[in-house]
Amino acid sequence: MIPAHGGRLINRIASGEQREELLAAAKSAPTLTLNAREISDFEMIATGAMSPLEGFMSSADLDSVVKNCRLANGVVWPLPVTLSSKGGSYEVGSTIALNNENGDLLGILNLEEAYEYDKDTEAQGALGTTDDAHPGKQYLNKLTGGYLAGPICLLNMPTYDFANDRRLTPRETRILFKTKGWKTIVAFQTRNPIHRAHEYLTKCALEIVDGLLIHPLVGETKGDDIPAKVRMDCYTTLLDNYYPSDRAALAVYPQAMRYAGPREAIFHALLRQNYGCTHFIVGRDHAGVGDYYGTYDAQEIFGTFGQGEIAITPLMFEHSFWDKVAGAMASGKTAAATKPEDKIFLSGTKVREMLVNGERPPVEFTRPEVADILINAMATKTTV
Ligand code: ADX
Repeated sequence: MIPAHGGRLINRIASGEQREELLAAAKSAPTLTLNAREISDFEMIATGAMSPLEGFMSSADLDSVVKNCRLANGVVWPLPVTLSSKGGSYEVGSTIALNNENGDLLGILNLEEAYEYDKDTEAQGALGTTDDAHPGKQYLNKLTGGYLAGPICLLNMPTYDFANDRRLTPRETRILFKTKGWKTIVAFQTRNPIHRAHEYLTKCALEIVDGLLIHPLVGETKGDDIPAKVRMDCYTTLLDNYYPSDRAALAVYPQAMRYAGPREAIFHALLRQNYGCTHFIVGRDHAGVGDYYGTYDAQEIFGTFGQGEIAITPLMFEHSFWDKVAGAMASGKTAAATKPEDKIFLSGTKVREMLVNGERPPVEFTRPEVADILINAMATKTTV
């Protein structure tokens, strides 16, 4: 099985006596309320999905990540994973109880460092822009106070109101792959319902590996993305009707979207390696937003690292569409169609418009079962 990034699958989930001791210590500790992204990061650090991270980043790691796309020890790491103090003041060396917004205890942080970091420097390095309209920059702008760094320990798993049977930790996906006898596994990241182009990529990939892990991001996304709860219905319907049941699996990726384009593609890939995947799909404008990134920037960035620095293999795909001439899905590499009118591309805005009006987009764009779930969700306002 593929090793975790950095060599060791981290486990920061306390159990038994250690958990009892930490629960007792948390009772008298100062508290900090995590925001949605931080809760996702906290959970993913604890389960090993973010290996080799064992906690929230120090200033040395953050600065190195921002400037060199590596942790301070040189291991490739593309994006900040930070905890904001929300303006609170905490003593270095103390234990902080980490809560959700309802005041429920999630775990603890051993505070090793409290520091400030310039938001523009962070945004420029991580996102490639300091534009206040970028959702990643908007997130940074909302934070107050500096960052708190140190190792964490999870005491209570965050709870969710959907997809609870699909929440597999990296240890659990690794067991699943072993049980299924899959040696090569391709992961598919998505923050959208699976349309025909997505389906095409996953099936092309499945031709050359043993198994497919559909791994939709279900942490925080921007307001106009389709909510994860609705998307989960689309994925299960699609899997039940259009995928080979013995070669495809669905589990959630509980992370918040950064919209960081190329650097997030590396991030998504490394974390899927931690889940035990050997291959990772990178299509057009992966993790992009607006026009901040070039169509294939997220593919090209993989070539900037040394041999073996990223163990998971990216599978790159060109922009795919329905080719009317061939009567099949295709890309620029394989299409018989040459005229634009023979290629079915639909913009996200156009599709949304159709769905809101109760209209199914063409079957060449999306499976009717998926369209119906989305139309229904729009009608009952589950999406807005
Ligand atoms: S993302 O933010 O998760 O990247 P999305 O869910 O749209 O957004 O994309 C999931 C994956 O499919 C990404 O790798 C993306 O590059 C790829 N992708 C989406 N649409 C297409 C398309 N028409 N052609 C090729 N790749 C695509």
